[in-house]
Amino acid sequence: LKEITYKIHRFNPEKDSKPYFQAYTFPLKPAMTVLEGLYYILEYLDHTLSFRSSCRMAVCGSCAMHINGKYRLACNTQITSLKSKMVVVQPLLHLPNLKDLVVDHTGFFENLIAIKPWLLGQEPVPEREYLQSPKERKKLDVVTECIMCQACYASCPVAGTDNKYFGPHSFLKVLRFVNDSRDSVTMERLQQVAGETGVFRCHTIFNCQDVCPKHLDPAGAIAQLKMAATLEKLKGKLKTQASV
Ligand code: FES
Repeated sequence: LKEITYKIHRFNPEKDSKPYFQAYTFPLKPAMTVLEGLYYILEYLDHTLSFRSSCRMAVCGSCAMHINGKYRLACNTQITSLKSKMVVVQPLLHLPNLKDLVVDHTGFFENLIAIKPWLLGQEPVPEREYLQSPKERKKLDVVTECIMCQACYASCPVAGTDNKYFGPHSFLKVLRFVNDSRDSVTMERLQQVAGETGVFRCHTIFNCQDVCPKHLDPAGAIAQLKMAATLEKLKGKLKTQASV
């Protein structure tokens, strides 16, 4: 391919009554990523285009977009890997579209903060630090690698119908603290995710697992939390109407 055409979702609330697609064609460079293509358009073809990015190395999570039928990181997706003459780029779903490819992340982070994504350590607080064995620390591998890109949230149909649903990203984070030997509120965390906006709302369709650019497994985390909540319910320690 010598040239590539982008079809980009455009919307400027100050002058557009509804979104539309705009096409741009430009020379394709070797190993060019979808994000580099967006920067080419911004610099040489259209200064009004808006999108988010920062690290350009799949670390910050700010460039997640819907690219040729799937949520991906634009900085981590080479154009040629899409095997198409056309790159169709749309913003993340389920969050208000502010302009072009930029969405309002407020609801996503509100749902995350609601599950208290920080360590609530045991009392008394140790003088120096909470100790953890290598085996206990090992349990936190992988689940700490989420970059909050929101691809899982945007691909989740339950999140699309209920903006109070905590979302796959939140459940991954809950599991991280439920598995943490230093955390002191496991039962409260399980009680919370066993509630109306919690894990039992998941339809287990694995979109979140499929789109995660870090190859994490939010669907697996949800299954583990369902199992833990159900076991505690059977022991009479947890109140939930739901079953696995
Ligand atoms: S720009 Fe940071 S993840 Fe893509």
